[in-house]
Amino acid sequence: MSAAAGALRVEDRGTHVLATLDRPEKRNAIDQDLIDALHELCAELERAPRTLVVHGAGGSFAAGADIAQLRERRAADARAGINTHAFTRVAELPMPVIAALDGYALGGGAELAYAADIRVGTPALRIGNPETGLGILAAAGASWRLRELVGAPLAAEILLAGRVLTGAEALAAGLVTHLHDTGDEALAAAEAIAARVAKLDPEATRATKRVFAAPPSAHPAIDLAEQAILFESPEKMRRMTEFLERKAQR
Ligand code: COA
Repeated sequence: MSAAAGALRVEDRGTHVLATLDRPEKRNAIDQDLIDALHELCAELERAPRTLVVHGAGGSFAAGADIAQLRERRAADARAGINTHAFTRVAELPMPVIAALDGYALGGGAELAYAADIRVGTPALRIGNPETGLGILAAAGASWRLRELVGAPLAAEILLAGRVLTGAEALAAGLVTHLHDTGDEALAAAEAIAARVAKLDPEATRATKRVFAAPPSAHPAIDLAEQAILFESPEKMRRMTEFLERKAQR
């Protein structure tokens, strides 16, 4: 695993890849270099699928897209969907993506977190979308992913009234599934989830992620098509035989 350039530190942690948003002096604000590094990382994880854990250095996840760069962007940049495409690529990675959230996860930082499959947080988490306060909308996933994650009523308050959730509120809303006292503990918990994923059949995990992401109209046909492939897999036979033989020995 090569280290991606710029403010994204990428480490091979055996059971998973750990990506650290590492621009703490700017609260890990997501600039073009970080977006380029995310694309580079996604390209590697598409080629060689691994679980990804993502977190931020210095007590914050990410305080948004880089406002200095955003201010200079014009209509053509908006249409190009610079952050939108990167976060969708993250969301569509073959293996699970787990975000450990501490401190600020605002704007584009929140939208990167919404693109993860699993989120854990800390009480210090502050997550929301203040974009309208800057004269823009949250166009990199919040309007569809956040609604799906917390439901339309709370998503509307976050998007239309700039409500920022605390860690406890994010837990109550189901936006994070666990709270841990510190950022280090949240990261350890995210990495423990990745280690659990590593014990499961990667092909079954990937199929489950594809089925989970499919639109309602695709079910149950997609479930059955994916299951048909898994039912023929040597790994299914091996895992089930191992289970049955273990039971038979007792
Ligand atoms: N884009 C660019 N720079 C950012 C940034 C962002 N989204 N968020 C923080 N920074 C920079 C600040 O400009 C400051 O840089 P400087 O030291 O060179 O002046 C540095 O990060 C530290 O931020 P600061 O505001 O001093 O820290 P704080 O702890 O007092 O406040 C926040 C933290 C997150 C509340 C505050 O920085 C903030 O409101 N950021 C913008 C949040 C936002 O609107 N995000 C949505 C963008 S779409």
